Amino acid sequence: MKGAEMRMRSKYRKSTSLVCNGCNRCTLTIVVWSLMGCLLLLHFYSLVRQKKSFGELHLHVSHNSLSHELEVVEEENIQIPPPRKRSPRAAKRKPKKPTTLVDEFLDENSQLRNIFFPNERTAIDPRNGDRNETLYFHPARIWLDTEGNPIQAHGGGILYDESTQTFYWYGEYKDGPTYHAHQKGAARVDVIGVGCYSSKDLWAWKNEGIVLAAEENDETHDLHKLNVLERPKVVYNEKSGKYVMWMHIDDVNYTKAAVGVAVSDYPTGPFDYLYSKNPHGFESRDMTVFKDDDGVAYLVYSSEDNSELHIGPLKEDYLDVTNEMRRILVGQHREAPALFKYQGTYYMITSGCTGWAPNEALAHAAESIMGPWETLGNPCIGGNKVFRLTTYFAQGTFVLPLPGLPDYFIFMADRWNPADLRDSRYVWLPLKVGGAADEPFEFRFGFPLWSRVSIYWHKKWRLPYKRIE
Ligand SMILES: *[C@@H]1O[C@H](CO)[C@@H](O)[C@H](O)[C@H]1NC(C)=O
Ligand SMILES: *[C@@H]1O[C@H](CO)[C@@H](O)[C@H](O)[C@H]1NC(C)=O
Repeated sequence: MKGAEMRMRSKYRKSTSLVCNGCNRCTLTIVVWSLMGCLLLLHFYSLVRQKKSFGELHLHVSHNSLSHELEVVEEENIQIPPPRKRSPRAAKRKPKKPTTLVDEFLDENSQLRNIFFPNERTAIDPRNGDRNETLYFHPARIWLDTEGNPIQAHGGGILYDESTQTFYWYGEYKDGPTYHAHQKGAARVDVIGVGCYSSKDLWAWKNEGIVLAAEENDETHDLHKLNVLERPKVVYNEKSGKYVMWMHIDDVNYTKAAVGVAVSDYPTGPFDYLYSKNPHGFESRDMTVFKDDDGVAYLVYSSEDNSELHIGPLKEDYLDVTNEMRRILVGQHREAPALFKYQGTYYMITSGCTGWAPNEALAHAAESIMGPWETLGNPCIGGNKVFRLTTYFAQGTFVLPLPGLPDYFIFMADRWNPADLRDSRYVWLPLKVGGAADEPFEFRFGFPLWSRVSIYWHKKWRLPYKRIE
């Protein structure tokens, strides 16, 4: 449908250029002109219809300059502050080691705290009438929903519902206290459930509530609040008409290492929880689900102590895996997989495995989704070196294709705040595939020369969409 729209648009351009050339020459011209008129009318009709059905969002007509802005390289120059004044005696007892930007990021008392986790005063607030801010993303700022509450959709993913042209953002609802279950345990928030938000423009998000809720009492239940529910992803099954949610299910010590499945008739739930399992009999921790354009959906998960990823197609109803499975990126220790497809090639962004601490993202590519997958290198551009080596102090969770904008994607990441996980931030940035890969370090003769995957750092940016008021 979007392809048709683009074709219509180029037709429109052609016909307007004809307007300037010869008129009133002969009947043939008149016939051609009437035809053009009909086409124009049809085009305007489709535009009007488009406006109505696409709600508030519409592709910006002259989007070239705005698209170009997405690829502008923005630098960051953050100075590490001099150490705080301490009494000479304290300084003598424990000399202060020089800190790095990563140390500062991990130090909740750092003087740079407000740079990494800007306070409420700078929040993105769709209720605010400031038109200069409308549709602008500010990575890592607090992001309020349409009721003014911080969005709770961590480790999330987005489903685009074509029929209603609405985006649904699902993620971990973490609005509870952060604590350690025991001395060696990672920081955690008890399971509350999966939050869902809807939007027509990817900027103003309405809270649709908790669409899969934790179990309060039954300690044997997968969704019991003392367990772990991470990285929920929802795909729509055309054959059954159901919305199917896959998620990482674990116990407090991450020894269960399972995937869970839930299903609903509506994108806004409620989802019925079905079961959990070790897919193909293996451990499964960070995971994602990717639906290919032929309707086949795939589960991708970190396995074997996170040393490799496994990928396999789901059954036709998406409620279970099949027996088919391939090991990919073996020995590379990657997690947080996010897949997308561009011009027939499959791409994946992954992170390293360092718990809540940020690390370097890598892009991977494959001609066949089942592999072999090749590693292309770090996709991050701009910011500064530390930004690029820490995925902008964040961890990827999803790559979103954009309706009507086939050359761009949104890279969605989480800037985790292990001191207060509910206050973790969202880092959304434009992603593009193009140009030669810089360092395909597994390059071998006979392999295709992959294109580069680029994620561009921006302090503030927007999509080349415009709102229809
Ligand atoms: C919006 O931007 C314009 C032009 O830069 C400026 O004059 C105006 O004061 C801004 N409005 C607000 C509410 O900041
Ligand atoms: C998790 O590990 C801790 C420390 O090893 C242990 O005390 C606790 O019983 C474990 N809990 C579960 C649910 O396995």
